[in-house]
Amino acid sequence: MPAIFPRWTNNIPLAVAVLGPFALAGLVGFVWYYFSPKYTDVGYRPIQPVPFSHKLHAGDMGMDCRYCHNTVERAAVAAVPPAATCMNCHSLVKTDSPRLKLVRDSFETGETIPWVRVHQLPDFAFFDHRPHLAAGVGCSTCHGRIDQMTIVEMAQPLSMGWCLDCHRDPEPNLRPVDQITNMAWDPATDGKAYDAAKDPKRKRDVNPPEHCSGCHR
Ligand code: HEC
Ligand code: HEC
Ligand code: HEC
Ligand code: HEC
Ligand code: HEC
Repeated sequence: MPAIFPRWTNNIPLAVAVLGPFALAGLVGFVWYYFSPKYTDVGYRPIQPVPFSHKLHAGDMGMDCRYCHNTVERAAVAAVPPAATCMNCHSLVKTDSPRLKLVRDSFETGETIPWVRVHQLPDFAFFDHRPHLAAGVGCSTCHGRIDQMTIVEMAQPLSMGWCLDCHRDPEPNLRPVDQITNMAWDPATDGKAYDAAKDPKRKRDVNPPEHCSGCHR
């Protein structure tokens, strides 16, 4: 009887069984690597409902980040300020500006301003600002030069690989704890001159988690 399939095709099931898992793992790895936000999210820069400028307020006017993001050292979430914080000044400054209409409305009605989230991890990943700030990781290390941004944009990928790069070797990213909001702190110069291990104000070594359950709880 003539063979319908040539003899070599007998090896196909074996080849699929042996090589299949590798091909699948390769595909998963490919998607994970190239489609993960490291390649998609940096530079994400949504337009906000109020044209609030960090460059003006935090840069030119030199306001400390914590004047507005006042929960960042106390809670996991840094919290965007309520209109009342803005009205500390804007009940006196630029009181008729149409650009501030939403802020005045929000202050009167109590309805929150619909700011668009820029940084957002998926629910299955756990992040808390507090241990990072307490260990002396500066805002600019993760958020870039916010004080130079007219519109906030993502400076770092916030991918798992990015978190782990630092967790494996945090020392070069540490600074004195009283410098965390200093946007001008330069890792290349100030960072080189600072040795966390020799800082008398530090009580213990930092030890960021690398095991899965550290961030996936
Ligand atoms: C006058 C108040 C004010 C000050 C001071 C301020 N911010 Fe903000 N910040 C805001 C408001 C309002 C938003 C939401 C609108 C936006 O994204 O521009 C925001 C948004 C952000 C976001 C993006 C949040 C998200 O959606 O992911 C980051 C990051 C941030 N600020 C960091 C900083 C840092 C770092 C500093 C100090 C250099 C700072 N801010 C100073 C008011 C302020
Ligand atoms: C410490 C005082 C202060 C605080 C607090 C403050 N601002 Fe301002 N803001 C100013 C000053 C001063 C100017 C105007 C600079 C100028 O003359 O152009 C300004 C300008 C602005 C403008 C531009 C207005 C225009 O017509 O050009 C917007 C929008 C604005 N602020 C939004 C906000 C928001 C939103 C908040 C709260 C998250 C806030 N500001 C908090 C002082 C403040
Ligand atoms: C170790 C990196 C890191 C540092 C340091 C850091 N942030 Fe963040 N920040 C993040 C991540 C990651 C998110 C997204 C959190 C989420 O989605 O749960 C975020 C979110 C935010 C948000 C949006 C609201 C929120 O909490 O989700 C604001 C505002 C913010 N950061 C401000 C700051 C300020 C101000 C500082 C310095 C005092 C700072 N961050 C330092 C990584 C960092
Ligand atoms: C630039 C460095 C840096 C980056 C980036 C960074 N971390 Fe950390 N992380 C640290 C340091 C330093 C600590 C503090 C360790 C200590 O105090 O022992 C820490 C601690 C933690 C902890 C332990 C906190 C606790 O309460 O147990 C978690 C969880 C964590 N980081 C999650 C993340 C996640 C998720 C990301 C990415 C979105 C991230 N980190 C990015 C440096 C970093
Ligand atoms: C330092 C914190 C951290 C640690 C430790 C960590 N992860 Fe993640 N992981 C993250 C973050 C943040 C994300 C979300 C990244 C994103 O949005 O793409 C993530 C995403 C993932 C995803 C979804 C795929 C993706 O890239 O979005 C998987 C699967 C995963 N982690 C598995 C693990 C496993 C398995 C371990 C242990 C070997 C681990 N993680 C350890 C922070 C961590």
